[in-house]
Amino acid sequence: KVSGPLAGRKAIVTSGPTHEPIDPVRYIANRSSGRQGHAIAAALAKLGADVTLVSGPVGIADPPGIRVVHVERAEEMLEAVLAGLPADIAVMVAAVADWRVATTAGEKIKKKPGEAPPPLQLAENPDILKTVGHHAQRPKLVVGFAAETQNLETNAREKLKRKGADLIVANDVSPGTGIMGGSRNSVRVVSKAGIDAWPDLSKEEVAERLAALIAERLAALS
Ligand code: C5P
Repeated sequence: KVSGPLAGRKAIVTSGPTHEPIDPVRYIANRSSGRQGHAIAAALAKLGADVTLVSGPVGIADPPGIRVVHVERAEEMLEAVLAGLPADIAVMVAAVADWRVATTAGEKIKKKPGEAPPPLQLAENPDILKTVGHHAQRPKLVVGFAAETQNLETNAREKLKRKGADLIVANDVSPGTGIMGGSRNSVRVVSKAGIDAWPDLSKEEVAERLAALIAERLAALS
């Protein structure tokens, strides 16, 4: 029998980037290793939660003992997340591409000597966090991330409201911080109550603290 403070709780976590195909061989994407999202899924499971990890294409292994749904595009990621509802907890960590290519070419687009590069028409992708944060089956606790290179706290507070989240974990991903793709993270946790600056930690430690905070907040709700 499962034990721990999150036993009997269902969690959905997104992680990694999404790949938005241009044609069968090319895509657009955000930078994301999936390390933070995967660590959060593992930390929630360690506290007893029943976790579904919806992962974009990453180069790291599935965390053991967790249900993992592998997706490529944002639209597929949204579908997999919605299929996981109802849930108690949603932690949306994926670096979802804001845009997809409006019409994906069925064949590789040929480079023609002397011709101008093909134009890329983009369409807006669904905002998965915002959809979940305003859903009729909204999980009791909705957590998002805010990777910013400037105005970290202002952007995070704005994101909390707009996306319908309870917590936003904000990190500075400016080049030179080493956070993107690296093993450490330095975050500020923004909630209605205010902002909590966490020390520089490994991504596993950030995950464990966040899982503990989630357990604490859920316990306070019910
Ligand atoms: O708006 P922005 O991309 O900065 O918001 C980041 C947060 O929103 C992250 O939690 C990310 O996983 C989530 N997000 C999402 N779907 C999108 C864009 C962002 O779930 N299309």
